[in-house]
Amino acid sequence: MKIAVTGGAGYIGSTLVKRLVEGGNQVVSVDNLMNGDYGPLRALGMSEKATLHVADIRDGKRIEESLAGSDAIAHLAALPGLVKCRERPEEAVSINLYGTQQVLEAARRLDIGKVVFCSSAAVYGKPVELPVTESHPLRPLNLYGVTKLAGEKLMELYFDNYGIETISLRFGNVFGVGLFTHYDTVIPRFVRMGLDGESLTIYGDGTSSRDFVHVEDVVQAMALSLASKGLGGEVYNVGGETMEIGALARRVAEFLRNETGENVRITHLPPRPGETKEFSYNLEKIKGELGYGPRWSIMRGVEQITKFNLEQRALKV
Ligand SMILES: NC(=O)c1ccc[n+]([C@@H]2O[C@H](COP(=O)([O-])OP(=O)(O)OC[C@H]3O[C@@H](n4cnc5c(N)ncnc54)[C@H](O)[C@@H]3O)[C@@H](O)[C@H]2O)c1
Repeated sequence: MKIAVTGGAGYIGSTLVKRLVEGGNQVVSVDNLMNGDYGPLRALGMSEKATLHVADIRDGKRIEESLAGSDAIAHLAALPGLVKCRERPEEAVSINLYGTQQVLEAARRLDIGKVVFCSSAAVYGKPVELPVTESHPLRPLNLYGVTKLAGEKLMELYFDNYGIETISLRFGNVFGVGLFTHYDTVIPRFVRMGLDGESLTIYGDGTSSRDFVHVEDVVQAMALSLASKGLGGEVYNVGGETMEIGALARRVAEFLRNETGENVRITHLPPRPGETKEFSYNLEKIKGELGYGPRWSIMRGVEQITKFNLEQRALKV
């Protein structure tokens, strides 16, 4: 297949492009390089099978040229995360909403029959029932979640009106070493703090829980969605393992103590306002309908991130 990947130079995107090329697909990535780097894919010698078009998804004419001839689109380009969207609200709406509509318009004009969209657990807001299923009420607590929910609605609209098979995937908290890893979310942050000799900081009493999903499992869900047939206007939770933040800190600290022989301390700060306390995913739908099964446990990922950090540090010496 020829697959177009918007945001193909980013953290999840470049990991997906690598997997798609390894699976025998031809890939075209569309990325404005605002937050991405195609170097790691070039270093693997993949630039012939995975060409990069440097373009903005809001430039309809340019992306139509880039996407022409594709069988399916994986749409990842976005202003990601609640902090960036809070700090740059106009850009959040412009990229995540207008940009998503431009990608769908290009798909319609070019007669591309499948679009897979990256959504987020942020569309749910504060859970009223756990574990969260896809039919849980949707009440985002921040602009990021609102733009992702609007993106899902655009996907449904283009399925209902034009028959484009759209799938929206609601990722949990993504972690793990990808091809281009540039994030400092809670798991990599705990590992970095522990290796730097800092205390692992927990906001609140540590009983808040999250679903953690490894980037390779996210890519598995995307590849299954791209290969699916006859599914359209669908949404799926994409998760891995649920853990309380306090338990996560204790397990990371214990792991690092065993690895380095150094003591790792944990400190508590007041809870941050507006954060959801408990969160866990029901994954029955994606397991049953797409055959998805997460392969990475949190602790296997912690081991991988620690090894990656130690290797990066050794290179800098
Ligand atoms: N990482 C997570 O925890 C997580 C969780 C839920 C959902 N998601 C979603 O997954 C997708 C990929 O996230 P990521 O973590 O790989 O982020 P990322 O920032 O690493 O990747 C996004 C890519 O999109 C590109 N981009 C941004 N704006 C663009 C534009 N206007 N035109 C063209 N390219 C543009 C960036 O340069 C970057 O390479 C995003 O849609 C994000 O919202 C991520």
